[in-house]
Amino acid sequence: MTESSKPPVIAIDGPTASGKGTVAALVAKALGFHYLDSGALYRLVALASEREGVSTENASFLSKIAASMPISFQDGQIMLGDEDVSELIRAEKIGRRASELAVHPEVRQALVRLQHGFRQNPGLVADGRDMASVIFPDAGLKVFLTASVAARAERRYKQLIAKGISANMSDLLQDLTARDARDSSRGSAPLMVAEGAIVLDTSELSIDQAVSQVLSWYRSSVSSQS
Ligand code: DC
Repeated sequence: MTESSKPPVIAIDGPTASGKGTVAALVAKALGFHYLDSGALYRLVALASEREGVSTENASFLSKIAASMPISFQDGQIMLGDEDVSELIRAEKIGRRASELAVHPEVRQALVRLQHGFRQNPGLVADGRDMASVIFPDAGLKVFLTASVAARAERRYKQLIAKGISANMSDLLQDLTARDARDSSRGSAPLMVAEGAIVLDTSELSIDQAVSQVLSWYRSSVSSQS
């Protein structure tokens, strides 16, 4: 397949709890595209390795787990073997562990092919930290979706409370700040605004407004190419 005949990709990167997952999934739905939640892959490595008692420092063992874990995505459910782990991987401690093990280039490399496999017709919306910079540098539209730490902590707080999970605002703020720092400062594929990416600050936007903005950018990028 030539570069230009590859299925189109919309890359949506951004910090934790920026709403990029919700926005990316809705943009994919509106366009009938596939959806890649790349953070879920790092979270799956976090869960699978925790169960095997592997330290987040052990890059070679972690990359073996990343390359061989029996995962599948079925109708919105995230499966590890026969088990639906969609909820389990959303735990705060799994997110923190995912951020810790994502610093290792070997782990990141082990997940590249899996991520490329999601690029199928009619197109893909991919969300993460390095979608535009590393995994899909030829994406037709690159969006960096962000929001203030306070807005993100508040959204996460509401999500957790709605799920009946107790949460503490100052712990959430501290955790988000630490995670941002780790994801942005690591040597391998750090979180950053990729060249050519458009920044969308959603602090004051509803989900619908953010989705409409991304769709409108995508439609103009497609019409300017044709
Ligand atoms: O998007 P998320 O919060 O589910 O991601 C969890 C962690 O996984 C995040 O803190 C860093 C890591 N991650 C990454 O390094 N690269 C990606 N493309 C996606 C996630």
